[in-house]
Amino acid sequence: MSVSIKSEREIELMRKSCQLLEEVHDALGKMIRPGISTKDIDREGERLIRERGGIPNFLNYEGYPASICVSVNDEVVHGIPKDDRILQEGDIVSLDAGLIYKGYHSDAARTYAVGAISPDVQKLIDVTRQSFFEGIKYARAGNHLHEISAAIGAYAESFGYGVVRDLVGHGIGTKLHEDPQIPNYAMRSRGIRLRPGMTLAIEPMINMGTWEVEWLDDDWTVVTADGLPSAHYENTVLITDGDPEILTLSDPAVR
Ligand code: MF3
Ligand code: CO
Repeated sequence: MSVSIKSEREIELMRKSCQLLEEVHDALGKMIRPGISTKDIDREGERLIRERGGIPNFLNYEGYPASICVSVNDEVVHGIPKDDRILQEGDIVSLDAGLIYKGYHSDAARTYAVGAISPDVQKLIDVTRQSFFEGIKYARAGNHLHEISAAIGAYAESFGYGVVRDLVGHGIGTKLHEDPQIPNYAMRSRGIRLRPGMTLAIEPMINMGTWEVEWLDDDWTVVTADGLPSAHYENTVLITDGDPEILTLSDPAVR
């Protein structure tokens, strides 16, 4: 395993790529309402990425057929956008998006309510987002990677939620998926030592019920084994000499 350390020049390009992605996410978040299709989100996402000079990095990745992963309710991740999948009041929808700018990848995910949703599902969304922030308290040079993993998992499990184990976060840079893998649950090993210049996509996937997941026949869509809802939250993060820099989120106080 080799974990890349980005130079100052590369960090600037990562920052730019991630800023553009944040703009795309903000615009997509504003579209979410009952009556739009998951394909509407993908079409607009691709347009917003290309309008900014970016390239959609998910499109054709290992054959994935869209630019934005749109996952509804019990779909955990990698939902394939469809014209006939219409968002309904009470649904939740996770948008996972990424782009390449001047050779550098960004990756982030958000989960939104569609209209009014039940308080217990809103809590799942909120806890999933907060689990990311619990994790990055440990995202500091000198710490070990799995301290982040353990903090995410312990927080989510304290609410009785299931932490997805089959999918993990990842390093990111000139490739979408670089070393290291970043689990969202406690490991027996402590993981690599974090160093300034590492860029990591940290992405808790949290289920209301069981942690167990299945794959649909499309070979992409991951769903919960018990049919209960799932939420996803992801940012690309830079390890520094001090506090981590959340490259895909300029103001963590704003939801
Ligand atoms: N953001 C996801 C990840 O971190 C999505 C990539 S899968 C793709 O792995 F095929 F859609 F690109
Ligand atoms: Co990712």
